[in-house]
Amino acid sequence: MDYKSYIATKLNINGVSQEEIASFIEVPPTADMGDYALPCFKLAKIMRMPPVKIAQDLATAFSCDEYISECQAVNGYLNFKVNRTGFADALLNKILTEGDRFGADTIGNGKTICIDYSSVNIAKQFHIGHLSTTVIGSALCKIFRFLGYKVVGINHLGDYGTQFGKLIVAFKKWSSLEEVKEKGLKELSRIYVKFHDEAEKNPALDDEARAYFKKIEDGDKESNELFELFKAITMKEVEKIYKLLNVTFDSYAGESFYNDKMQPIVDELNEKNLIKLSDGASIVDLEEYNMPPCLILKSDGSTLYATRDIAAAVYRKNTYDFDKCLYVVAYQQNLHFKQFFKVLELMGKPWAKDMVHVAYGMVSLESGSMSTRKGQVVLLEDVIDKTIEKAYKVIEEKNPALPDKENIARAVGTGAVIFGALCNNKIKDIVFSYDRVLSFEGETCPYVQYTVARCNSILSKLGNPSSYSSVQMCDSEYAVISELGKFPEIVKSAAEKYEPSFVTRYAIDLATAFNKFYIDCKIASASEDAKNFRLAITKAVKTTLTNALTLLGIETVEQM
Ligand code: ARG
Repeated sequence: MDYKSYIATKLNINGVSQEEIASFIEVPPTADMGDYALPCFKLAKIMRMPPVKIAQDLATAFSCDEYISECQAVNGYLNFKVNRTGFADALLNKILTEGDRFGADTIGNGKTICIDYSSVNIAKQFHIGHLSTTVIGSALCKIFRFLGYKVVGINHLGDYGTQFGKLIVAFKKWSSLEEVKEKGLKELSRIYVKFHDEAEKNPALDDEARAYFKKIEDGDKESNELFELFKAITMKEVEKIYKLLNVTFDSYAGESFYNDKMQPIVDELNEKNLIKLSDGASIVDLEEYNMPPCLILKSDGSTLYATRDIAAAVYRKNTYDFDKCLYVVAYQQNLHFKQFFKVLELMGKPWAKDMVHVAYGMVSLESGSMSTRKGQVVLLEDVIDKTIEKAYKVIEEKNPALPDKENIARAVGTGAVIFGALCNNKIKDIVFSYDRVLSFEGETCPYVQYTVARCNSILSKLGNPSSYSSVQMCDSEYAVISELGKFPEIVKSAAEKYEPSFVTRYAIDLATAFNKFYIDCKIASASEDAKNFRLAITKAVKTTLTNALTLLGIETVEQM
């Protein structure tokens, strides 16, 4: 029920559109001022009357009904109270019937969305710089699916480039099959860092690396076997993390997948007269659009990151016929996306307008920015291990008899990492701090998970709600109801703004409202009707918090 629109329709003020009136209506800071209020000074100019008079006239003309139980003029404000019991009954009934589908929608039915996210680079360790794209992308997949869209989650692997030639050289010089198989990505990182140190002194290494990369491209057996090995080692480690974070993909078509799909793109660009030669390189000139040129081919004929992205976009359109194609990538790459979206537009692709760069902020360390080459990174696996360990310690301290401690610690530890990364508006830069992810106090995931466990323990002690006839609600009961009612809209706006943090913030707000209710209202010793009503609230909160966390990829626990 959208009360603002409903009130606006009922007020029906001459000369002001209903949308406008609805946009003037506010939720007052305290509940004793009503549930909604129209500040009439906003109408004074249009209606050429003092606000106090406007409010009085409107109040006299307003007729209350089953939805709005009170309308009063107070100092130029028109205050409304909604029929709380009617609203609460309908909402609780809806939540308890819909269960894990509460908040879902069909608005996306028949539409397809491609989401390019995580897109890790082969042979590089999974550090916290990849956390945002991974969890934002994964949450968006789940949110859009919940709204009925068909979602294709794509991991556009960084599996192409001279760095693989470098790795082969480094591998041959300073490592072995045994070492690589035993130590995995750590070993690959070690030799990659070493390569850069050595190449500074001996630039001939770079030529060797280029030659090996060419061998990979030309199908040389040994080089390709090594490359496949590096890839397998990377994927094994990365998949372990994906599993912990509840992240899945529908496609792992990475950059090298487009090797044979770029020539047709280059041909098309030529046919459409979009290619210019510049120092032997093929470029699309974007000066007219105030951007540097988009590089398509280097002077030696090799392709670039943008070439592969253009080929990938065309492939995705042909394969999935998407309505939108999202790229969850740090704002560092803003220019890249603007450039290649523009090239698609110049190629005459009408769907170029459906390409969206979902940019997010950068993660840095207190000691400065991260760098794989310098080995200055914080590994995601270490972070997750530490949060799980901390969760386990807290459980040992507070609730040592808890069954299944390991599993609970895993859910709480990984939840803290995901929730922490989805807490703020995505475009904000983050300075990573262990203290912050390891803090389980305040507005954190453990707080929300604890609230779910609390609901659960109330329900298992007092039983599931049976029927009740509506009771007179106190403000903290109604505050929970009012939060519960917001969930479907929150999910939709999170999708519309590509902002999973709306769901994260919402989970905190709902948990806070519930915990206040729990302090203010007795459940066990209340009258039979009040008890059942409060149990219904408890069950609805458990359901809704679980749905919210599930959309973020976070598990709930029955006990904590
Ligand atoms: N692998 C790239 C990186 O780590 C991100 C790729 C994003 N996706 C894309 N289609 N360009 O920077």
